[in-house]
Amino acid sequence: MSRTVRIAPSILSADFARMGEEVRAVDEAGADWIHLDVMDGHFVPNISFGPAIVRAVRPLTSKPFDVHLMIAPTDAYLDAFAQAGADTISVHLEAGPHIHRSIGHIKALGLRAGVALNPGTPAKMLDYLLDLVDQVIVMTVNPGFGGQHFIESQLKKIAAIRKMIDATGRAVDLEVDGGVDAATAVRAIEAGADALVAGTSVFGGGDYAANIARLRPA
Ligand code: DX5
Ligand code: ZN
Repeated sequence: MSRTVRIAPSILSADFARMGEEVRAVDEAGADWIHLDVMDGHFVPNISFGPAIVRAVRPLTSKPFDVHLMIAPTDAYLDAFAQAGADTISVHLEAGPHIHRSIGHIKALGLRAGVALNPGTPAKMLDYLLDLVDQVIVMTVNPGFGGQHFIESQLKKIAAIRKMIDATGRAVDLEVDGGVDAATAVRAIEAGADALVAGTSVFGGGDYAANIARLRPA
């Protein structure tokens, strides 16, 4: 099956001292979306950046901003990320008891809503959410850090969610996040992914355009 695959470089792996240039560089290198990883040192054991950075880099590219919130609680911060220029906001299923409300809040802000699943969270948790969201993120690492290894067991979950999405008949993007490189990209796409987040394999060195091109299906 041929499916358009979007590549979303994660600026978590960019040079933070040159963030503006890095965003422009991946835009010119062919990024489809810019993935922004927000971490709070509570939901995940690392702290990255908040809405001020999202706002600061927003004027530098017209590519959609794919904001991935790894924070708990989430709801109190959704308006700030919307105002900062997010196009999609994804919240973690595990971040609190009211994921359904959080998704409704993001939709009410006029944005695309995503739901992210940690590696230990089963696909069936999406049963009452798939009709509401625009995107699902399957985490193929435990969130918190770039540069980790792709967790193979998640391929089965990606395939299961692909079937669930196809059964809805709705356009829901299936994004895979963590440890994506040229080899794991192929496997994620075969399993049904149609969007790939990549930090280390894009920003890790060399030519960003070539790095992005290597992640696209042949
Ligand atoms: C992990 C983040 C990912 C990560 C991807 O917590 O959500 O987006 O930065 O980085 P790599 O591609 O290096 O695994
Ligand atoms: Zn992410």
